[in-house]
Amino acid sequence: MPKVFQLAHVALGVPDPAQAREYYVDTLGLSPVASDSGAEYLSVGFAHHDLVLEKGDGRRLAHVGYLLSPGTGLDDLAKTLGGAGFKAQIKSDAQPGVAKLAEVEVVPGHTVQVYEAGDAPAPGFSGKGIGPLNMGHVAIVSPEAPKLVQFYRDVMGFHETDWIGDLATFMTCNSDHHVINVVNAPVNMVHHLAFQLSESAEHARAADTLRRAGIKTCWGPSRHTAGHNLAAYHKDPADLLIELYTDMDVFVPELNMCQPRPWHEHLPMRPRKWGLDELSNWGVDFQYDLARG
Ligand SMILES: [Fe+2]
Repeated sequence: MPKVFQLAHVALGVPDPAQAREYYVDTLGLSPVASDSGAEYLSVGFAHHDLVLEKGDGRRLAHVGYLLSPGTGLDDLAKTLGGAGFKAQIKSDAQPGVAKLAEVEVVPGHTVQVYEAGDAPAPGFSGKGIGPLNMGHVAIVSPEAPKLVQFYRDVMGFHETDWIGDLATFMTCNSDHHVINVVNAPVNMVHHLAFQLSESAEHARAADTLRRAGIKTCWGPSRHTAGHNLAAYHKDPADLLIELYTDMDVFVPELNMCQPRPWHEHLPMRPRKWGLDELSNWGVDFQYDLARG
């Protein structure tokens, strides 16, 4: 049973939070909720924040937050983490909108925060720009990916749902095929951040919205193999890849398989090691470098 059940927020270090904020508010369509100590707190529509923009090196993960599973107390979690050799700190009022959280630096450059689902000011869906449904997953690159995977799997109870060669591991704490994708490469960075659209026709509207904002769609839409999401990628002002997706596989942990879909070429669709040249199910390549973006 995973100790957490949902990705809560991603905090990015970006060179110019105010400039990045313009893109995330005007083009992506997030709602600004708070500014605090130079950091910008942005909401997709319900939570206090899904995304935090902090001043820092471009494409660095400042921290990633998850919501604590019901019945798992923060103090108990900290004890579990301690027993596994990870020193967790309980912090109060460490960031706006979160009264209490447990924080652990799993490996250098990867800080995890866990907290209970708390107050949600529900600023509403802004109606601007692309307007995603939610922030669904983050893909991170780490020189210590094996240790990260071990932490998420063995300590936090995540499921491994697919692999790409020996490079990338897809992991989930709920029924989404992945909420995090860990890439093993000798650099600490965020590979991409992914937002779910309401339906596949939204890909066309999103591409037109991006075009009006002077932003090119780099790749897609095309259907991935791992997760089978229909994905399209563009870059934010800090050169971070942003994925827009629909149609992601639904993972059923009790069966160790994804719910069958007509486009699956493997039935049952169990966790599978895909080849490095098998990023796209349609043969329309995603030309990004898995280790760089
Ligand atoms: Fe992705």
